[in-house]
Amino acid sequence: MKATKPFSDHIQFLKNEIENAIHQIPLEKTPAYFYDPIKYVLNGKGKRFRPILVHLVGDVYSSAPEKIMKAAISVELLHNFSLVHDDIMDEDDVRHGQPSVHKKWDNATATLAGDGLFVLSHSIITGLSKYIHQRFNEVTLAICEGQGMDKEFENDDSITMGNYLVMIGKKTGALLGLCAELGSLIGNDSKSDGHQLFEYGLNLGLAFQIQDDYLEIYGDESTMGKSLGSDIRAGKQTALSILARENHRDKWLEFIQKNDSISAYKAFFESNGIKAETETIIQHYIQKAQDGLNVIPERNRAHLNQFTTMILNRTY
Ligand code: IPE
Ligand code: IPE
Ligand code: MG
Ligand code: MG
Repeated sequence: MKATKPFSDHIQFLKNEIENAIHQIPLEKTPAYFYDPIKYVLNGKGKRFRPILVHLVGDVYSSAPEKIMKAAISVELLHNFSLVHDDIMDEDDVRHGQPSVHKKWDNATATLAGDGLFVLSHSIITGLSKYIHQRFNEVTLAICEGQGMDKEFENDDSITMGNYLVMIGKKTGALLGLCAELGSLIGNDSKSDGHQLFEYGLNLGLAFQIQDDYLEIYGDESTMGKSLGSDIRAGKQTALSILARENHRDKWLEFIQKNDSISAYKAFFESNGIKAETETIIQHYIQKAQDGLNVIPERNRAHLNQFTTMILNRTY
C-alpha cells in the first residue's frame, strides 16, 4: 500500500512554495520610503492560510500550477494590504510578532505601503481571466464595506448578531470564499462549482473571524503575534461582546463600565456560558463549511476536510 505523507507535511510544502513565490515578486529598491515597508510586510510571518486554500482547491480541479500560484500570491497581497490599513484603523501596534507598519514608520508610510500591496495584487490577478478579475474586484469592495461596517458599529449597542454576521462575512468571509472559488475557476469554467466553493470559504471565514474574536481573549499574545484585547476594549462588536449584550445585557453593561482587563473578560465570559456558546457557534460554521464541500467528489475531498479541521483547531 502506498504510504501517504501526513497532511502537515503537505501544508508545510505548500507554505514553502508560497514563500518562495512571494520573495520572487520583483520590487524596486527606490524610493525606499515606498518599497522598504512593502518588503517588511512580505517578510512577515503570516500563516498564509489564504494562498494555501487556493492551492488545495486548485489541485482538486487540476488547475495549471503557475496560474494557481498567481491567484494564491495575489490574494495574499490583497490580504496584507487589508491588514496594514486595518492596523491603522484599529490602532494596533503589533502584527506578525513585530511592530505594525504605522508603528515602525508612521500613518503616511503605512497608507502608501497598503496602496502598493493592493496595486501589486491587482497587477498579478489581471493576468488571469476577465471573470476572475471581476470576482476579485467584487470581493475587494466587500472587504472595504465590511471594514466600513466594523468602524460604523463601534460602540453601537443596537448591533445584533445578524448585523455582526453580515459585517464579518464581508470583512473576512468574502476573501476566504474567493480563495476557494478561484482555485476552482482556474481549472474549470463552471461558475456553479465556483459559487458553491465560495459558500464553503465564506462559512469557513465566518468561523475564522469568530475564532479571531475568541482568540483575542483566550489566545496567547506571543503565539498570536498581535495585540490582544484591543478590539473589545475599543468597543468593537465581537461575537463574545454581542452574546454578552444579547443574553446578559444589564450585567454586561455594568461590567464594562468597571473592567477592561483580559482576565476579567475571561472570567465574565466563562461564568456566563459565553465561552462555550462561542465555541458552539464556531463549530456550527465549520460544519456548514464542511457540508459545502459536497460539490467535490468524496475521493478528492480529504485535503479540504483536513484543512477545515486544521482551522477549527487553530490556536493562532
Ligand atoms: C487576520 O487573518 C485577519 C482576520 C481576518 C482575522 P490571519 O490570522 O489569517 O492573518 P495572518 O496573515 O496569518 O497574520
Ligand atoms: C480583520 O479584522 C479584517 C480585515 C483586515 C479585513 P480584525 O481587525 O478583527 O483582525 P485582527 O484581529 O486585527 O487581525
Ligand atoms: Mg484589527
Ligand atoms: Mg479591524
